[in-house]
Amino acid sequence: MTSGVGAPRRARISARTLRTDRWWLPPLLTNLGLLTFVVYAGARSFMGKWYWVEEYGYLTPFYSPCLSESCLPGSSHFGTPLPELPGWIPLGFVALPFLLGFRLTCYYYRKAYYRSVWQSPPACAVAEPHGSYSGETRLPLIVQNAHRYFFYVALVVSVINTYDAVLSFTHGVGLGSLVLSINVILLWAYTLSCHSCRHIAGGRLKHFSKHPVRYRAWTLISKLNVRHMQLAWTTLATLMLTDLYVMLVASGAISDLRFF
Ligand code: FES
Repeated sequence: MTSGVGAPRRARISARTLRTDRWWLPPLLTNLGLLTFVVYAGARSFMGKWYWVEEYGYLTPFYSPCLSESCLPGSSHFGTPLPELPGWIPLGFVALPFLLGFRLTCYYYRKAYYRSVWQSPPACAVAEPHGSYSGETRLPLIVQNAHRYFFYVALVVSVINTYDAVLSFTHGVGLGSLVLSINVILLWAYTLSCHSCRHIAGGRLKHFSKHPVRYRAWTLISKLNVRHMQLAWTTLATLMLTDLYVMLVASGAISDLRFF
């Protein structure tokens, strides 16, 4: 190794680390958290059923927008411009790649998976296994620079998810409507707390005093931005829980709790 801890001017220490604490615990927990989401979201996206409750208008966010003729009647809130799809294509395939791109290129998730999955480095004072480092200057990591564009698509998807949640209230009010609403509020909080969003609102300005509206927006987004990590994890959990609730109601495993 000729770079990193193996660079010629670094001290020659053969041990990977001299740390004796449980430095491996945070990367392990991060890996387990991300793996849980990837396995759950993958399984549900390819399941192709139990994503829509017609009686109450509940559509899981993993299948929204559902734009194909394969979608269950009533679940296509924006029509069916696409033909029937083979079973191996997830019905939510229009939005899923962009949402995945949005999360993968998110500044917080980068920090999380660079340390845990990439191990680059896994912790302070722990040598990484890689022999060279090219940062985000080459494929595939150069794609990280497209985060701002994934953010624009994520904004549109948040609007669509909001529409889905609001539409459920036209069928009355049940626990499912509240679950969809809480999920969408948190999704908005995560999306608006994005670092790109903060920069779009208040970046490249020489004088905040000449742009009071952008300054105000930047101030509000900055308050959310400090919670970006918490929102990133919370929304992973609420996405899974929302989908799980819709799946359980749609499959008949549980009944929706109705208030009105
Ligand atoms: Fe995390 Fe943009 S920085 S979503």
